[in-house]
Amino acid sequence: MNNAVSGFSKLTKEEKINWIANEYFANPEEAVATIKQYWNNDAKLQQLHDEFTENTISNFYLPMGIAPNFLINGKYYSVPMVIEESSVVAAAANSAKFWSKRGGFKATVLGTEKIGQVHFLFKGNHDKIEQFFKVVKEKLIASTDSLTGNMQRRGGGITSLELRNKTSELHDYFQLHATFETKDSMGANFINSCLEQLAKTLKEEGGNYADFDEVEKDIIVVMSILSNYVPNCIVRVEVSCKVEELAEKKIENPQEFAEKLVQAVRIAEVEPFRAVTHNKGIMNGVDSVVLATGNDFRAIEAGVHAYASRFGKYSSLSHAKIENGMFSFWMEIPLALGTVGGLTSLHPLVKMALEILGKPSAKELMQVVAVTGLAQNFAALRSLTTTGIQEGHMKMHINNILNQYETNPEERKLIKTHFETNTISHSAVVAFIKKIRE
Ligand code: MEV
Repeated sequence: MNNAVSGFSKLTKEEKINWIANEYFANPEEAVATIKQYWNNDAKLQQLHDEFTENTISNFYLPMGIAPNFLINGKYYSVPMVIEESSVVAAAANSAKFWSKRGGFKATVLGTEKIGQVHFLFKGNHDKIEQFFKVVKEKLIASTDSLTGNMQRRGGGITSLELRNKTSELHDYFQLHATFETKDSMGANFINSCLEQLAKTLKEEGGNYADFDEVEKDIIVVMSILSNYVPNCIVRVEVSCKVEELAEKKIENPQEFAEKLVQAVRIAEVEPFRAVTHNKGIMNGVDSVVLATGNDFRAIEAGVHAYASRFGKYSSLSHAKIENGMFSFWMEIPLALGTVGGLTSLHPLVKMALEILGKPSAKELMQVVAVTGLAQNFAALRSLTTTGIQEGHMKMHINNILNQYETNPEERKLIKTHFETNTISHSAVVAFIKKIRE
């Protein structure tokens, strides 16, 4: 126990598993059996998954669910969601159905600009570097031609290149700030390759620039990397209806409901502690579609939360109002997504998810993902401001408890009947299981 290992990556898969099993488990055979239980029987499919990442020993399942009846810009979608949390898919489906009867969701992509930067140090005269940039700008862009050709044929490529002087924030620090259009791909590899080429050309051209002295010629490239903050890669989604149309079984007084919901959103706008949880609910919807469609949810998370803080204070992503008897609920979020490249053509379930969505373009996927986030937010706020979140949550969570205690069908029936009329809590369910087993 507690041993370092050298050359772990060089071990075969079998050797890695054995090392882990012997090192960390009292019963290594059982550990090996559990690890292998999650392998796919199809060796070729298993190898595909093994090679998505490194040092793979097994597959980690997450449930893939479907939230149907999403009416977006007049078209129905069944939305695939990959998420482990109970009640999220049910909430999305409820919300989708609710809004499909009230005109559906409207979604508009406001921009698709991606950003990348070459961060470098220039120790010298600032006017000279500005002048140098003017002289070499076209050469810098042209040096990426062999990389951008394909993308340009698809209507994308580098859309702008600027020199940014950041020396007031950090000594000698400058940037090449580039914007990109990457069409249906998320474009991370494309952007990073372009940036590395720009950095190389920048250094070469700097070294040959006659007006620079010897110190100025030595441009120090620190790093070249895309930014996951994409405030101009934005989609706006919204729902609206007359306040009285909000009425349904659980919303007897729609005016009171609408006012409370607007108030709940205002609280999330001004109070960061609430905003984080409010936005977490939105990300329940966003991340689960991002995962199902093989996109990078860490990139999306980082970018969305930066956007939520863009005015210097973390705030709600969504907004709501009542005006002239109309209730409106909307949000704008940055989503850099792809429907080609990456996992999209490799992972069989990702391919299926995209097929279920009708093989969307990246723009269409931005709309679906953002709508799922807004639907999730509406469902959470509706529960929070009416019954409280635990009622629905515990109804769904009860299945996890039943699985944990390996209840049989007869016990499940008894438990479900009992908790139709009694308050569900983890301890109450466990106590009831114990009681019926006595
Ligand atoms: C739980 O995963 C998400 C919520 O906490 C979101 C919210 O509070 O708005 C229910």
